Amino acid sequence: MIFSNIDFNDEEPIYIQIKNNIKDMISKGMFNKGSKLPSTRELSEILNVSRNSVISAFEELKDEGVIHSQKGKGTFVSISNVYKENTWNINWDEKYNKYANLCEELDIVKSEIPWEKDLISFKSISPQGELFDIDEIKKSFLNRISLEGHKLLNYGYAKGYQPLINYLLSYMEDKGVDTSNKDILITNGFTEGLDIILSSFTKSGDTIICENPTHNTAIKLFKVYDLNIVGIDMTDNGMDLEILEKELKNNDVKLSFVVPSYHNPTGIVMRHKERYELYNLMKKYNVPIIEDGFNEELLHTGSHICPIAALDGSSNGVLYIGSFSKVLFPGMRIGWILADKSIINKLESVKRCKNIHVSFLDQAILYDYLNNGSFEKYMKKIKKFYKEKYEFALECVKKYIHTDYIMGEGGLHIFLKLDNINSRELLSRCYEKGVIFMCGDVFYIDDSGHDTLRLGFSRLDFEDIEKGIKIIGSVIDELR
Ligand SMILES: Cc1ncc(COP(=O)(O)O)c(C=O)c1O
Repeated sequence: MIFSNIDFNDEEPIYIQIKNNIKDMISKGMFNKGSKLPSTRELSEILNVSRNSVISAFEELKDEGVIHSQKGKGTFVSISNVYKENTWNINWDEKYNKYANLCEELDIVKSEIPWEKDLISFKSISPQGELFDIDEIKKSFLNRISLEGHKLLNYGYAKGYQPLINYLLSYMEDKGVDTSNKDILITNGFTEGLDIILSSFTKSGDTIICENPTHNTAIKLFKVYDLNIVGIDMTDNGMDLEILEKELKNNDVKLSFVVPSYHNPTGIVMRHKERYELYNLMKKYNVPIIEDGFNEELLHTGSHICPIAALDGSSNGVLYIGSFSKVLFPGMRIGWILADKSIINKLESVKRCKNIHVSFLDQAILYDYLNNGSFEKYMKKIKKFYKEKYEFALECVKKYIHTDYIMGEGGLHIFLKLDNINSRELLSRCYEKGVIFMCGDVFYIDDSGHDTLRLGFSRLDFEDIEKGIKIIGSVIDELR
């Protein structure tokens, strides 16, 4: 009992000492605003003083606004406990480790020009939110919560929500993947999938091979895991396979990372032939492939191209990472790793160690939405929508921007190379005119790509696409 610690002196009246002690306790945070104090009778017994002394102390504290009484309920503290003499000031800056410092240093969300109202921004390649089926999502939520109730709000399994895993296994089979000896781990989007794989298989100094340029988040993760990154220049059909073979011969490569469909940032879709050749090369040099299949559903033209995972048959050479961040809802943060059963068994423990599991409520809602036919209807709608946008954006680029190097076969972005024009300078001039885009240099691993840029058009309307591209084109002409 904290009151029993009061040591009374002979100099001051008892009631003053009680009052000052209560104020002191409040200022030190021993009582918060709203805390109930003992009654005057109880306190006089605890302190072994007369009840009148306690009553006088309480009256003074009430006059000062420190406490108040509520009829029939008791006496309560009225003020917050601000401890004003706090002088503890740790220098946290010197305590951050290399990992945290690198995460911040490589955080382009902080270093690039942010979106502002009225800017025409070609930075984003996330989906247009107005297209989301909110009514269907509401129905899926109500359906799952009525069927499964509290189970979805309790702890679930690290591997994921089994109906969603089953759905995704047959989804992958439809893509031509042999899933007989495969399993799935549900992850917090592609990003956590890659993080789990890198943290499970790599150590500082290991070599990873990837396309150059490649997805900025992947580069960031390779760097924070202190990997030696070997970037392979790209042709119109993905990695230059001659360069790839040379690098595979000359390096002790631990893993490879490939984005074969709607590669970010180039938008290249590898043809079946090159996928097969790449797969065989990796197999020849025994280098496992991490395949990022994030956007392959958005294929606008031509027939379906199998993921590299489909070429692997019942072998275990490919770790496939899928994500619903582009084709559905990035905010739900749901992705998956498909790999050999024994690998998923191990990665399940890694996932549990990192953050237990992805929200079961979210997984269940997504499963319901996927399973009730809404997904197929939605895919039909967005494929048509993004195809039209892509074709319009491409037409505008060809009309207003004078360059021969235009990459991208659909998806949500177009990639450009502008001979001898620095895209950072272009960006700062365009920014003054109300237009921003993603400079291509952030996707390169070797400090190149200074004359490249990525135009993401998915969230812009047709009018702004044309207006923005016209402005970029006019600034390029000024800089020439
Ligand atoms: C190449 C690539 N892979 C995957 C993703 C999706 O990542 P996540 O699922 O973590 O949102 C993106 C998003 O931009 C991407 O560009």
